[in-house]
Amino acid sequence: MDSVRQRMRQLQTQIEDANYRYYVLDDPAMPDAAWDLLLRELQELESRHPGLADPNSPTQRVGSRPSSGFEEVVHATPMLSLANAFTEEEVGDFVSRITKETGDADPEFSVEPKLDGLAISLRYENGVFVRGATRGDGSTGEDVTANLRTVKCIPLKLRGEAPGVLEVRGEVYMPKADFEAYNARALREGGKTLANPRNGAAGSLRQLDPRITAMRPLAFYAYALGEVSAMPSSIQTHSQSLSWIRDFGLPVCPEAGTARGTGGILAFYRRLGERRGQLAYDIDGSVYKLDRFDQQRAMGFVSRAPRWAIAHKYPAQEQQTVIEAIDVQVGRTGAVTPVARLVPVQVAGVVVTNATLHNADQIARLDVRIGDSVIVRRAGDVIPEVVRVIEDRRPAGTSPWSMPVQCPICGSAVEREPGEVVSRCTGGLYCPAQRKQALIHFASRRAMDIEGLGERLIEDLVDFGYVKTVADLYALRLDDFLAMKRRADERDGSTPDAVKTGKIASKWAENLIEAIAASRETLLERILFALGIRDVGESTAKTLARHFGALDPIMAADESVLREVPDIGPVVAARIAHFFAQAHNREVIAALRANGVHWTEGAPQRASEGPLAGKTVVLTGGLAAMSRDEAGARLEALGAKISGSVSKKTGIVVAGEAAGSKLAKAQELGLEIWDEARLLAFLDDHAGKPSD
Ligand code: IVH
Repeated sequence: MDSVRQRMRQLQTQIEDANYRYYVLDDPAMPDAAWDLLLRELQELESRHPGLADPNSPTQRVGSRPSSGFEEVVHATPMLSLANAFTEEEVGDFVSRITKETGDADPEFSVEPKLDGLAISLRYENGVFVRGATRGDGSTGEDVTANLRTVKCIPLKLRGEAPGVLEVRGEVYMPKADFEAYNARALREGGKTLANPRNGAAGSLRQLDPRITAMRPLAFYAYALGEVSAMPSSIQTHSQSLSWIRDFGLPVCPEAGTARGTGGILAFYRRLGERRGQLAYDIDGSVYKLDRFDQQRAMGFVSRAPRWAIAHKYPAQEQQTVIEAIDVQVGRTGAVTPVARLVPVQVAGVVVTNATLHNADQIARLDVRIGDSVIVRRAGDVIPEVVRVIEDRRPAGTSPWSMPVQCPICGSAVEREPGEVVSRCTGGLYCPAQRKQALIHFASRRAMDIEGLGERLIEDLVDFGYVKTVADLYALRLDDFLAMKRRADERDGSTPDAVKTGKIASKWAENLIEAIAASRETLLERILFALGIRDVGESTAKTLARHFGALDPIMAADESVLREVPDIGPVVAARIAHFFAQAHNREVIAALRANGVHWTEGAPQRASEGPLAGKTVVLTGGLAAMSRDEAGARLEALGAKISGSVSKKTGIVVAGEAAGSKLAKAQELGLEIWDEARLLAFLDDHAGKPSD
């Protein structure tokens, strides 16, 4: 018994410490998943040994007391928390309890995302926002009215006829994209980054200076009612109350809906889980709320949580692990990116072994060292990253990490320009790592689009000395691929399998040769983009192609000429001029031409020139002769502006195969509509002649 008592006390302290760090200091000490485990263990011990339960246990209150600095607010009706379910079985038990106690065999639920932000309560009196408070311990929170006033999606006045008192509960959160942008800016300007969107939201609301809060990109979704002076009798369910709230101009999460029975709510859980990465905000679960108010009343409450609702958690996106090594990777432009090699850990269902550390500043800011215990985070499709170090767990004898002074691949100096956060290998195309990345970029879909020429193959081509520059690709012969394949198999110790021997191997090589050959004919903007000039993305490449019409005048242009191109600033102008001034780049271009690569060239299209100048064109439906992208590029070269949506201002709608609603709208508006034949005839009439 004593050891149980001891364990309970230990758990309490650990949870309380973690709560303090999380709620009061906004400086979490452990990932949520670890906290959940501790709380569950304590809850279980308390229910097995009710004699030992402590009324002040962290299981009995959510969060902690308000910190000084903000006034206390006593909530008119307590702000509840939710019980958690981690398995489908637990969700089944929840529904069974409801069926048993309400007699409803197939109860209806409001199903909602569990938003990962900070719970708040908004009080409106006669339609005017008078007070906003955090949840605090559920009965008493902090008055953060001044901060909430800065949250743009929280209305200061309600629309329509609001009751005398209306309290709305919901979540303040930071949209993922805004969080990324905020951190990117902080990194650039040497400011402090936010650990994750939830901490961003919580920390921002706890600012004593509302002007700081106002600079933080916060948003809000309502999900429940608090005190309401007069509720229309027509509102009998939770989902109806959400529509009612929405009608007052308060944001309600558009993903919220209704579902029936265990099957229905689990289907919602899975669907939402699949889209979790694509949502604009972080969620950590689905919430199921028994929809009918009369049934909610029948189920009642236990301590601070309703028995009619439950949060069904998704696997955690953050986990704890240890850094085994810090390596660096060299990118296309020589950028040297530090990467943490981790003790493998499951994060949101995927084993993570590497995480990006971004750059030297980020490492210094986090003070990440080899041997450190760290929190890694994986969200959606983004590369996993190290979020923070758990300093208490740092082993003895570590030292701060520093950027290597020499490129680990080619030995050239690694340098960092003043005002830049990125360190770069100065080896240029002498560095095999940069050469590989340049080739990968050149072959990629939006550049030369060479099908089948993937990363692995390019690495082998460089490693075995078959290609040095992008021009060498066009000199490769069938036998080169076959010989290289044999050498790669030997190196990997794999006996050449049936798939890559004999006929099949030559078919594979033939396809590659064909794909390379097909890429010989391209567009000026594509070759410009494919060359991999620093800071010249697709859109700058397009601008250059249109402005100059051909490659030679771009190669001949000096910085001052380039600066006259609309949308090209001094930095990019310098980069372009620098690129074409280098002998080896000019040689590569000459070699590309010698190897038969050619692109469309035509007359320059300065602003508001060309037969389609000033016309907006919408492309819809499928084209047989070329992709929509290509058609768009050619029309742009003739002065058109390409748009995705049809309106009164649209000049021409090109309707291909199976065009749908856009065509219908164009007909309705009486716009000029072209079929593919008309488009091709027009392009023919105005064709630029390919260079040779
Ligand atoms: S309802 C009656 N709905 O989860 C229960 N809570 O542990 C009141 N949360 O404090 C909460 N999304 O911070 C509810 N759609 C949602 C939610 C949600 C996130 C958070 C909220 C609350 C905690 C409950």
